[in-house]
Amino acid sequence: MKLFVDTGDIEEVRQAAEWGIIDGVTTNPTLIAKSGHGFKETVLKICELVPEGAISAEVVATDYDTMLKEALEIHSWHPNIVVKVPLIENGIRLVKTLSDKDIQTNVTLVFTVSQALLAAKAGATFISNFVGRVDDISDDGMVAVAKSVEMVETYGYDSEILVASIRHPLHVVQAVEAGAHIATMPFKIMSMLFKHPLTDAGLKRFLADWNDAGLSIFPK
Ligand code: E4P
Repeated sequence: MKLFVDTGDIEEVRQAAEWGIIDGVTTNPTLIAKSGHGFKETVLKICELVPEGAISAEVVATDYDTMLKEALEIHSWHPNIVVKVPLIENGIRLVKTLSDKDIQTNVTLVFTVSQALLAAKAGATFISNFVGRVDDISDDGMVAVAKSVEMVETYGYDSEILVASIRHPLHVVQAVEAGAHIATMPFKIMSMLFKHPLTDAGLKRFLADWNDAGLSIFPK
């Protein structure tokens, strides 16, 4: 399973990249706006910090011609950029055009299997199925994820199901159980994956015992 960090904050990307376990970064217009820096500048810095990663950067137009212009501009910035496209009619049309040109895409704002099917048929590289926003309105966002994973596997589509809008570590566990290909999450949630009170207590005890015995790894 691939792990992406969902942020436009360069310091968060830098720290997550140091862990050596991230496969990419997702941004969206809200996250870029929150970063307080320019779009191209932020995305290129992320590409530099995660040199092997897939870095999603989103178009903001909704008419096809402008979406295409924006997509080609964003794509020209760096070979690792994945053009993020909203699931609207012009978006699906754009994904088909880009996939015919071998340009990677991430279809965003996907909530249902039927939407995921459209994205898969258009040749999306990644399909961002949002879970938290569905949970927020008292439904179970993970249901569509499991069904979409089954859909792409049954029909042999190349698209990967990316679980987005993750709100807590249990969503990550459920994404694993659903067989999702990728989970993207805020830096704070990724940091929480490390945590267990028994890990902290266990380490404290190991180090206390070691120090009480006056031991050392290196010759004194
Ligand atoms: C995904 O790519 C989106 O950027 C993100 O996961 C949305 O999360 P939110 O619902 O917490 O805003």
